[in-house]
Amino acid sequence: MSESQQQPISQTAVDEAVATALAAVAAAPDVATFRTVRAEHLGETSVLATLNGALKSLPNDQKAAAGKLVGQAKARVSQAFVAREAELAVAEETQRLAAEAVDVTAVATRWTPGARHPLSLLMEHVSEIFVGMGWEVAEGPELENEWFNFDALNFDEDHPARALQDTFFVEPADSHLVLRTHTSPVQIRSLLERELPVYVIAPGKVYRTDELDPTHTPVFHQVEGIAVDKGLTMAHLRGTLEHFARLMFGEEAKIRLRPNYFPFTEPSAEMDVWQPNAKGGARWVEWGGCGMVNANVLRAAGINPEVYQGFAFGVGVERTLQFRNDLNDMRDMVEGDLRFSRQFGMVL
Ligand code: DAH
Repeated sequence: MSESQQQPISQTAVDEAVATALAAVAAAPDVATFRTVRAEHLGETSVLATLNGALKSLPNDQKAAAGKLVGQAKARVSQAFVAREAELAVAEETQRLAAEAVDVTAVATRWTPGARHPLSLLMEHVSEIFVGMGWEVAEGPELENEWFNFDALNFDEDHPARALQDTFFVEPADSHLVLRTHTSPVQIRSLLERELPVYVIAPGKVYRTDELDPTHTPVFHQVEGIAVDKGLTMAHLRGTLEHFARLMFGEEAKIRLRPNYFPFTEPSAEMDVWQPNAKGGARWVEWGGCGMVNANVLRAAGINPEVYQGFAFGVGVERTLQFRNDLNDMRDMVEGDLRFSRQFGMVL
């Protein structure tokens, strides 16, 4: 049989190939499947490619007509593929946009911002006041060596003050560790660590075996100050504290010193502050302790008291906050209720 008699490129064969291809194009569900389908119907092994390949073995007088038939078929099918590909791309894009859509009118989930604790803010404020005068901020451990907490501060071995401070002793007893009862041990640490002169402010937590009630908490905060330099006197102490008091309680605040006893200062004084704008009327309130650094304390830090003098003071941060903000119950400060902190503003 001659090839011309076989008529492999019949209208029917071409139509069938076109119909199958178009049906497959229409059925391709997405761009990825579509690519396989296109290779199947337009690729080298496709029916149309095979028909195209058969053209060259046709008798010359049939080549033109058959070529036109196959060429038009191929063109139709590839147009269908191009159109379908564009269609699928648009569909996929539309779907993607719908999936990624954000409803800008939706009510947003509200995140409640926290608030820094007023005691932390106050300690920072105090530190800044002193840094403004050229002082440095120091820290010490809350789990403190008994020597720093008592001995170096001139408390005798069996001085009643040790018991008076209601100390949390840490077991075993021969560890000689305590939860520091005041921030004064930072005085010694600062003097041992730094070159003279020393001007240091040390805010931090302290612990005493008190029950929680409106005026006591077993954990509270103090700010300690110590200055050791040549020629310091009570006048420097007084001037420093008065400045501090004014920045804490207002321009009209003033301080008063009453003789008192602390083992680590000599002379020692209790410091009262005059609050002209207190809620219940102007009043003196006891604010903290202070004095000239005891010569024994300087010696414990290896400093010659004949050459250097120092003054020191310690104030309760809770008390300071109470006076500044007319708070009555200290328990509000330890309970961690955000409604309390928020009243002081949303400083983050
Ligand atoms: N450490 C004392 C206390 O906790 C407070 C104090 C008094 C500190 C006198 C001082 C000071 O630095 O000079 O009660």
